[in-house]
Amino acid sequence: MFYLPTKIVFKIEAVKAAAEQLRGFGKKPLIVTGARSAIASGAQQDVTALFEDYQVYAEIKENPELGSIMRGAEVFKQSGCDFVIGIGGGSPLDAAKAISVAAANQLDIDQLYSTQLFQKAYPIVAIPTTSGTGSEVTQFSVLSDERSGKKAGWGHPLAFPVLALIDPRYTLSLSKEVTQNTAIDALSHLLEGLYSANREPLCFPMIHKGIGLIVKNLPLALKDPGNLEARTALSQASIYGGMTISQSSTSLQHSIGYPLTSEFGVPHGLANGIVMKQIMKLYKPAVHELLDEAFGSFHFNMESFFSWLDDLNLNADVQITEEFISQRVPEVMSSRNMLNNPLEVSAEQIADIFMSLM
Ligand SMILES: [Fe+2]
Repeated sequence: MFYLPTKIVFKIEAVKAAAEQLRGFGKKPLIVTGARSAIASGAQQDVTALFEDYQVYAEIKENPELGSIMRGAEVFKQSGCDFVIGIGGGSPLDAAKAISVAAANQLDIDQLYSTQLFQKAYPIVAIPTTSGTGSEVTQFSVLSDERSGKKAGWGHPLAFPVLALIDPRYTLSLSKEVTQNTAIDALSHLLEGLYSANREPLCFPMIHKGIGLIVKNLPLALKDPGNLEARTALSQASIYGGMTISQSSTSLQHSIGYPLTSEFGVPHGLANGIVMKQIMKLYKPAVHELLDEAFGSFHFNMESFFSWLDDLNLNADVQITEEFISQRVPEVMSSRNMLNNPLEVSAEQIADIFMSLM
């Protein structure tokens, strides 16, 4: 089954083009964002120009914590907002979804993962300023529990944004580092659409196109951050990646990356990137034909893909200890993504992948 109820406007000046629809969701939006990118990209100004009244909640940090969701839900209720607009990278967009359901269902901090309690949501609008997360077209929200140090996601159909406004110009102000890490996140999503035991063949043409767009355009955007054509291609690939995981969910590649983020602060996309080769080799017996087909669509093969990846020089400073292995491998083994592996994966294989990062 393919289900994606989000209206997508993907064009230059997307916010302006959707002004009437945006106003149709209510009188006063809560703008959920981080400290910087919403303003630096110009997206926040484009949105606030459309509303007489709005409330900004700019407290979302990378890997949003449960406390910041609860405070956002409180601000939403107290300031009389009637819908939510997330602006930024994956963190503000995921936070906007969680704030919407937390406010609508009167959730407390221990219920933010209790999707069985989610009966309704305020309308969620998503405006990405990066090209990687794909969160603008998914039902997922990945949060970090500051009490346990665990990062994990949930998904619920009510958390699909009603409207996603993607204007590639908003990504022009991204640093090289964020450009690379977020593109690698999108690449992970696309590859995981092939890996997933729940893979959706309707997504394959998007997956093939999306991987090819990233392979061609990431180096161009890194060389010339002002290259709008390359930026547009990366935004398109990111949407494809989001649409893909909205159907088939993510896999071990994501769940193995989460502890690297929680423990060592490795940015999300990079955490996926530094294990990308190992995961591909691990899954290869089950998915080599799907990979050959994908890479072949733009005259690549696994070998040339690996050398493309090597040229990016992805690395992160991680200190894998015995304690890390003993704590985090069971965490990965119990993650919901493990159900999506295309073949059986053992705790030893996960430990080996972590150890290979040393
Ligand atoms: Fe991701």
